[in-house]
Amino acid sequence: MPNETPTAGTARLLPGKPVAEAVLADVRARAAKLVEGGVRPSLATLLVGDDDASAGYIRIKQQQAAELGFASPHRHLPASTTQAELLATIAEFNDDPAVHGVLIQYPIPGHLDYDAALQTLDPDKDVDGMHPLNMGRLAVGLPGPLPCTPAGIEALLAHHEIPVAGREVVILGRGATLGRPLAMLLAQKRPTANAAVTVVHTGVPDWDRYTRRADILVAAAGVPGIVRPEHVRPGAVVIGAGVRYEGRRLLPDVDEACAEVAGAITPRVGGVGPTTVAMLFRNVIEAAERASAR
Ligand SMILES: NC(=O)c1ccc[n+]([C@@H]2O[C@H](COP(=O)([O-])OP(=O)(O)OC[C@H]3O[C@@H](n4cnc5c(N)ncnc54)[C@H](OP(=O)(O)O)[C@@H]3O)[C@@H](O)[C@H]2O)c1
Repeated sequence: MPNETPTAGTARLLPGKPVAEAVLADVRARAAKLVEGGVRPSLATLLVGDDDASAGYIRIKQQQAAELGFASPHRHLPASTTQAELLATIAEFNDDPAVHGVLIQYPIPGHLDYDAALQTLDPDKDVDGMHPLNMGRLAVGLPGPLPCTPAGIEALLAHHEIPVAGREVVILGRGATLGRPLAMLLAQKRPTANAAVTVVHTGVPDWDRYTRRADILVAAAGVPGIVRPEHVRPGAVVIGAGVRYEGRRLLPDVDEACAEVAGAITPRVGGVGPTTVAMLFRNVIEAAERASAR
């Protein structure tokens, strides 16, 4: 609550898995309803090149799609693909009424322009919620696909019954995938948002002045260990979203010792990540419902 005086201690963990399971159970039920009406939700995936990790991520999404009752048409383009060929494949998916969402697996080979490709994707099929039109919809509060990690963080807070409305949220990082859209989302006038949001970044060298007064602190910088216990108000909620990979090793923004100061905290592994994936499928089912209502 906004006026509570929390005390320090060993933090309650906020796992993302139960949140993702609840979201996916809802998606599965909505998919079954659409199938009954003759519409099979469909998530198309597009992989360019031969990156093993990317191929693995696509496989996981396809397995999840199958488990939810979705179709998942897949196109694998060679690493030598030209920008024109990439755009032509995106155009095919745009034009296919049976496809409701398109995932362009990131990263793509360096000679291709991902942002330019994303801008040719039908915004209504943009399951990552990253198309500029969808960022604009978010800014003005129109329905549309939401950026997955910010939407997952809102769902995580709601699932674990952490009040957000009226509280002070401080986000460390203003990146386009995380900090900036999360700020817009949590400032919206809705019961699971409606917060006083502050965003800090490299332009605010004394950013800990803000994080130390936050009720909810979201680390979204991608700088391993940047958030240390002295940056956290005793009893505050700490959400670790920023990570950096060194090979397969995951290095979170939030120093482990923050758990001794925070009131609640996401685990080092299995916090925000599972909710991000669940939100991707929520974006697909919503796109399929909107398409079938048209
Ligand atoms: N868990 C998930 O599922 C998930 C999903 C998506 C992204 N992520 C992670 O989230 C992080 C952010 O993603 P993004 O795309 O938004 O990143 P980004 O565009 O690189 O943004 C990083 C932000 O952090 C700020 N920052 C970096 N170092 C800082 C420092 N020393 N002091 C203060 N601010 C600092 C930057 O400030 P400036 O703007 O001033 O440069 C920038 O605003 C990344 O680690 C990414 O891996 C996680």
